Amino acid sequence: MGARPAEGTLKGCHYIMHAPATDAPPPPIRTPLPPLGDTVVEVRDLFKDYHMGDVTVPVLKGVDLTVREGEFVALMGPSGSGKSTLMNILGCLDRPTSGSYFLTDRDVARMSDDQLSEVRSSYLGFIFQAYNLLPQYTVVENVELPLVYQGIKLDERTHARCIALAEMVGLAERLDHRPLQLSGGQQQRVAIARALVNDPQVLLADEPTGNLDSRTSVEIMQTLTELNKAGKTIVMVTHEPDIADWARRVVRLRDGVVESDITNPSPFGYR
Ligand SMILES: Nc1ncnc2c1ncn2[C@@H]1O[C@H](COP(=O)(O)OP(=O)(O)OP(=O)(O)O)[C@@H](O)[C@H]1O
Ligand SMILES: [Mg+2]
Repeated sequence: MGARPAEGTLKGCHYIMHAPATDAPPPPIRTPLPPLGDTVVEVRDLFKDYHMGDVTVPVLKGVDLTVREGEFVALMGPSGSGKSTLMNILGCLDRPTSGSYFLTDRDVARMSDDQLSEVRSSYLGFIFQAYNLLPQYTVVENVELPLVYQGIKLDERTHARCIALAEMVGLAERLDHRPLQLSGGQQQRVAIARALVNDPQVLLADEPTGNLDSRTSVEIMQTLTELNKAGKTIVMVTHEPDIADWARRVVRLRDGVVESDITNPSPFGYR
């Protein structure tokens, strides 16, 4: 081993790297994973059937899933295994046929439509594969939309918050653009800012990188990781192992039940 310390400049910072005391390789430097908090999602024995005329199609067949605050969960599984069905129930966009679903201490499986939409806007932000932006509105107006739907009066304060969110996801130069004037990755950033407008505890993302190329997917995953580091709980559906590798935990569905549930000790964005 050379005794002289190596010196250089990286991203504008001068560094001196001293030789290690032994020949053993230095341990990798990792961002420590934040500790997990209380249970935010608790699903027990969840069933969901769809009805097509006289035919009953069973899709979820007894799903058990607990998600704690601060987790970053990738939900994987073959096409048709029920991932989106489960996400729609977690997101209070649909109700289970039977079983229980507690979001924090609230029993959402038995709520009325009004209660569900109240819970949805207080606790949850949803990010879709197809962005689901309104084409006639600007970036900032799209971010404001959930507030409009909730009947919140838009004022300077809400406007400033939406601008700040758009800036946070890297759209400072695009505030007045409309969706068709944005790239796919930029559109998904608008959707992320929109999902954050109520400061939800949980972000649900159904294939958020499904329409994006790999470089843009990495940027979106970096953004989601930053949000997870800041304390957001994330449940994300993906088909891609490379994308799932960013999550702290990988849950696989098969034929409507949880097939496996594995902790990732070193998610990509924390390395
Ligand atoms: N509204 C509906 N009515 C009837 N059947 C439905 C409905 N929505 C979904 N299904 C059926 O439920 C099953 C699960 O669908 P789901 O969309 O949850 O799968 P998925 O795991 O998200 O698949 P993919 O990876 O292709 O997105 C499929 O067989 C689908 O045909
Ligand atoms: Mg799906």
